[in-house]
Amino acid sequence: MTFRRPPDSRPPRRAVAECALRALLRALAATLVTGPAAAAPPAQAKVHLCVACHGEDGIGRDPSWPNLAGQKPDYLARQIAAFRDGTRRNDMMVPLVAELSDADIEALAAWYAAQPCAAR
Ligand code: HEC
Repeated sequence: MTFRRPPDSRPPRRAVAECALRALLRALAATLVTGPAAAAPPAQAKVHLCVACHGEDGIGRDPSWPNLAGQKPDYLARQIAAFRDGTRRNDMMVPLVAELSDADIEALAAWYAAQPCAAR
């Protein structure tokens, strides 16, 4: 006997479930590639510049600071580059990212995109 979902039922909180699933798959992939120690930020990711406001886990530490966890990596990289290049302006962000290289930005975007994005 196979289980069939009734035709009109929609999975609750589908986006959250998808997000959690993607985070799980990324964590599994990271574990397969590098082992469990992958939980620490990679040395090349300059996450220490960001933790005061976005945390190591990408969850904003103040109601007005955005969560980065689970965001699309390309979007994160584009926003960080926009702060650096002056096309997006914010007094808190701009000085922090002024010295970042493209490689730094890629590493930071990859780090925060890979964090689980459960609401906290
Ligand atoms: C002093 C606090 C502070 C620090 C430290 C900080 N940020 Fe931010 N960040 C903010 C604030 C506030 C915003 C929202 C800016 C706005 O309203 O446009 C923001 C926005 C962002 C965004 C855009 C998010 C979005 O959804 O568009 C990204 C990406 C980001 N920060 C990455 C970083 C990275 C990477 C670092 C470390 C290099 C960092 N931030 C350090 C306060 C901070």
